[in-house]
Amino acid sequence: MTEITFLLNGETVRVAADPTRTLLDWLREDQGLTGTKEGCNEGDCGACSVVVTDEKGVRALNACILFLPQLHGKAVRTVEGMAGPDGTLHPVQQAMVDLHGSQCGFCTPGFISSMVAGHMQGRTDHDVVLAGNLCRCTGYAPIIRAAEAAEAEDAPEWLDDDAAELDVAPLSIAPESVDELAAWYADNPDATLIGGATDVGLWVTKQMRDLPKVAFLNRCADLKGFDLSGDVIRAGAGVTMTDMYETMQVYHPSYAGMIRRYASEQVRNAATLGGNIANGSPIGDNPPVLIALGATLHLRKGSTRRDIQLEDFFIDYGKQDRAPGEFVEAVSFPKSAPALRVYKISKRFDQDISAVLGAFNVTVADGKVTDARIAFGGMAGIPKRAKAVEDALIGKDWSEATIDATLPAFAADFTPLTDMRASADYRLEAAQNLLCRYFAELNGQATNVLEVRA
Ligand SMILES: Cc1cc2nc3c(=O)[nH]c(=O)nc-3n(C[C@H](O)[C@H](O)[C@H](O)COP(=O)(O)OP(=O)(O)OC[C@H]3O[C@@H](n4cnc5c(N)ncnc54)[C@H](O)[C@@H]3O)c2cc1C
Ligand code: FES
Ligand code: FES
Repeated sequence: MTEITFLLNGETVRVAADPTRTLLDWLREDQGLTGTKEGCNEGDCGACSVVVTDEKGVRALNACILFLPQLHGKAVRTVEGMAGPDGTLHPVQQAMVDLHGSQCGFCTPGFISSMVAGHMQGRTDHDVVLAGNLCRCTGYAPIIRAAEAAEAEDAPEWLDDDAAELDVAPLSIAPESVDELAAWYADNPDATLIGGATDVGLWVTKQMRDLPKVAFLNRCADLKGFDLSGDVIRAGAGVTMTDMYETMQVYHPSYAGMIRRYASEQVRNAATLGGNIANGSPIGDNPPVLIALGATLHLRKGSTRRDIQLEDFFIDYGKQDRAPGEFVEAVSFPKSAPALRVYKISKRFDQDISAVLGAFNVTVADGKVTDARIAFGGMAGIPKRAKAVEDALIGKDWSEATIDATLPAFAADFTPLTDMRASADYRLEAAQNLLCRYFAELNGQATNVLEVRA
């Protein structure tokens, strides 16, 4: 049992809990706060969304894949705590009533949480804010109208207290610095590290796994930042996908465009870059992009650090170049890559895992290809470079004829699988088409669905 302290709807709570008890189970089963709903219990539907405030500000998170220690020192608001002490509804609640944003009401508490977080952040991109909240019966138009109507209203003062810093004692399972983490993990190599828990959460809620020894990374402040001082971006393993989105908008807009479609707001607010790399998934969205950028991975075990090319980290399906007790500390990649383009192919535009993800970074000088780094997710057991495709391009004219002549090389690089997301044939053809799309885009044609639909 671990004693965790946080603010819940404005009141300080101290909880002695199993470190992998989810906030959702605790709210509903121990607190009787059943306003927060359980839909999928795997981060997909947003019915369990709550508002969490910490030193980084306000964000919506999915309570079903949020372990209690991740909340230590933070403030949590559930739907029961959104209205004022005299019962005055929060402006988004009032707008949902006025504009008929709720029918059966099952999804409504989750929507309210996402809308309150969006409102406090001053957001007007409601389709993005709410992409992780599913509603089966109302339809989204009245909900979006309610979010728009609330834009003009001030955030109510009764939520101000959530921003106050809570003075809490350190948690033995949540190191406060990278050095502390490194020393502890070297001594406890059998432990499970937990970043945002957007993978590990499902091991517990879906696979019913017991995790006897865990360490949470979210209190390591020095794991969570970017170093932007030179020509290189060094991203700490603990930066979230939301952090990555903000920084990539400045340096690599096409990468940012992909992150905007990575999972949902709630998942992006939790999921870390380190987790997306360390899990070794062949369909993780960051690794192919970082490989196309020529990224270096910074690994650490105790006081020993080593750097490897990210592409060498992924050895085989489920096998990475990481020793027991070693963890991902950071990843570095160039600040500038104007030709980088990232294409995510999935059945849904938002909140879907990639069937294929292609990242292209081709250098052309005087009409000839001088360098090419092309990598894919979803095409092999690991995120993988398309070496035969690159070789077929380098030294050739940057022309449609070269692109056509290069397409057969995809079959030399990849023998994709058929699964529920796509067939092998579809994957191979989609990957080839992405090279054509890349050529078209670099030649000034609009190829993005957001550009061509207007
Ligand atoms: C609804 C939903 C949608 C999703 N959509 C996408 C998507 O669109 N694209 C995508 O790529 N992924 C997606 N995912 C998967 C998941 O969000 C990512 O893999 C995520 O980046 C994992 O990061 P995390 O911090 O949550 O990892 P965790 O769950 O905390 O950890 C994942 C693994 O990495 C290890 N680990 C974590 N940090 C470190 C570290 N610093 N060093 C060493 N090991 C570490 C853990 O021990 C564990 O094995 C989705 C998940 C959900 C639930
Ligand atoms: S219950 Fe569906 S996201 Fe949590
Ligand atoms: S109001 Fe019924 S699911 Fe949304």
